[in-house]
Amino acid sequence: MENQVKSRQRVTDHGEVFTADREVNAMLDLVKQETDRVDSRFLEPACGDGNFLVEILRRKLSAAKKRATPPRKRKPVPLEFEKQSVMAVASIYGVDILLDNVIACRDRLYNIWNAEYKSICGSEVNDDCREAVRYILDRNIVCGNALSLMQVDERGHDTKVPIVFSEWSFVMGTKMQRKDYRFDKLLAGEYEPATTNKNESRDEDGQLDLFSTEQILDSNDEGELLASYVTDYRSVQKHGQ
Ligand SMILES: C[S@@+](CC[C@H](N)C(=O)[O-])C[C@H]1O[C@@H](n2cnc3c(N)ncnc32)[C@H](O)[C@@H]1O
Repeated sequence: MENQVKSRQRVTDHGEVFTADREVNAMLDLVKQETDRVDSRFLEPACGDGNFLVEILRRKLSAAKKRATPPRKRKPVPLEFEKQSVMAVASIYGVDILLDNVIACRDRLYNIWNAEYKSICGSEVNDDCREAVRYILDRNIVCGNALSLMQVDERGHDTKVPIVFSEWSFVMGTKMQRKDYRFDKLLAGEYEPATTNKNESRDEDGQLDLFSTEQILDSNDEGELLASYVTDYRSVQKHGQ
């Protein structure tokens, strides 16, 4: 990280001071068991241009490489790496109030993914997959206000549109499911006692699943699940909005 401050005005207006690599890595090491998992979900509510998120992605891509490498082999299977790497991207979320930060963050994440994708998949790279990753990043890295939980306009002012996050998961083979939830409702549900009842959902490592449908519907049956789509992971950009 070269420069931690872009301008005094931005520090005054938005508290914008970027975190240096050394601190980023030290902090992420504290949750190493999660950063080393392809599908563990991370959300940074004031992500800036992505200093934490790019390092999380690097670590997840390294885990994706291992996961796509068969026992006693040295190289990952390209198609399996492609799928795992899409999941790595799809499990990373960010919010920032400044549009230039949001765009820079999406670009940095895309460039890191694409460099690794080219290096591992070589001539087997696929442009639909690239578009899918761009689309997932557009949805996951949101220009919004993490305090009001609303999307903001290009001047950083709240709009009337709530922040919506998509939960992405592979449901069978190459089919990817997207489920959209309002961020404010997710946060409200998180603190409901219902999240610890018999319907609570845990992932394969026993972690509470923030996005689990059961959990959300338990906390409030007003239908927080806004939309749901299932399609081939290379085609997510062709379905929904
Ligand atoms: C201290 S910087 C940290 C950036 C990044 N997390 C890092 O560690 O490098 C704070 C960031 O929060 C953003 N920010 C300030 N108020 C915000 C709000 N209400 N909602 C979302 N982002 C906000 C700023 O634009 C800035 O990028």
